[in-house]
Amino acid sequence: MPSGALHRIAYMSTAIGVLRAEELDRIYLRAQAANAGAGITGLLLFYEGVFLQVLEGPPAGVTSLLERIRRDRRHSGLIVLESGPAEERSFGGSPMNFVSARKLSAGEKKAFSELRQAVAARGASSGLDLSGLLAAFGAVRTA
Ligand SMILES: Cc1cc2nc3c(=O)[nH]c(=O)nc-3n(C[C@H](O)[C@H](O)[C@H](O)COP(=O)(O)O)c2cc1C
Repeated sequence: MPSGALHRIAYMSTAIGVLRAEELDRIYLRAQAANAGAGITGLLLFYEGVFLQVLEGPPAGVTSLLERIRRDRRHSGLIVLESGPAEERSFGGSPMNFVSARKLSAGEKKAFSELRQAVAARGASSGLDLSGLLAAFGAVRTA
């Protein structure tokens, strides 16, 4: 894919109420089917009521998907952590790789919690470093 044609967005949001496993499955299955058709790949994490999602693909497709997701009433308080052109896909192996809380390792939970705390303390725009967390998931989960 030529450079500039790939866009990556990462966001965090908070689930509304207690999302049951079936609801999470529904979100995940929907994402897999729709994203595959749109050339979008990524990662969806869910831990302690918080989502972290990475979407990567054609700029227009990723941007319009984010707006659709933003309107979803199963979560709120969506904060974009990163948005911009990407050199290559980090999650090229999957249209949407879903990792639920019980599958996260202790180290991954810790990294997720630290990122949440950093966002709570400093907001999204002040030098958050997602690369370690994302690289860990990209390497581990798509291997
Ligand atoms: C945390 C979260 C992540 C989601 N991720 C995706 C996704 O990657 N792709 C997708 O098509 N829908 C995703 N959805 C579902 C969309 O918000 C929306 O419900 C779905 O695309 C259907 O939209 P429509 O009813 O406007 O057709 C997600 C929803 C939530 C709450």
